[in-house]
Amino acid sequence: MTNKITFEDIKNSKEIRTYIKQADESLRVMGFTEHSFAHVTKCAEVAGSLLHDLGYSDHEVELAKIAAYMHDIGNVINRADHAQSGAVMAFRILDKMGMDPKDTATIITAIGNHDEATAYPVNAVAAALILADKTDVRRSRVRRNADIHTDIHDRVNYAVEKSELVLDKEEKTLTLFLTVDTNVSAIMDYFEIFLGRMKLSRRAAEFFDLKFQLNANGTVLL
Ligand SMILES: [Fe+2]
Ligand SMILES: [Fe+2]
Repeated sequence: MTNKITFEDIKNSKEIRTYIKQADESLRVMGFTEHSFAHVTKCAEVAGSLLHDLGYSDHEVELAKIAAYMHDIGNVINRADHAQSGAVMAFRILDKMGMDPKDTATIITAIGNHDEATAYPVNAVAAALILADKTDVRRSRVRRNADIHTDIHDRVNYAVEKSELVLDKEEKTLTLFLTVDTNVSAIMDYFEIFLGRMKLSRRAAEFFDLKFQLNANGTVLL
């Protein structure tokens, strides 16, 4: 028996919430930026609306939101290979909930293909997740006790006052608009740590036949 599992069901799952919370707690101890509900909910919104705006079905939008919400749970096991361990965890959870194997397959494919070194936009949900995840840069991801002088990730995230991913269907572009406080961080800092992410975003945008652009403080940099 398979059920139609909705994004709402996933958000209301105490089990999934437990893993998200515990995974973020480990990352906090290790000094990583916020990877909790704010991050995964934002990824779900961005991935879902991107697919919606590109004309994908409501069902595919729902799958993208579920994949995005669950994409970082593997961090509860270890940061290394968290995409793959998270995909296996998601398989067990969704299978147990009675999700249609076709839908489970789409979701675990996306989760298993989201992390930098092994990421690949193998389907629309995976491509949308990569774009949502890799473009989530913002001041509120920096933890309260972080030292922005010594940690470049914290500094760059802290410097980003505003970030927005904008789709232009006419121009066939997907642009990440950043407002960067250059008193906190130089734009070069951003490139130093985010070049890999930007390359990946470009590849994911190409899946949709879009050109990925980066616009920082009004200047197109990429
Ligand atoms: Fe991740
Ligand atoms: Fe993430």
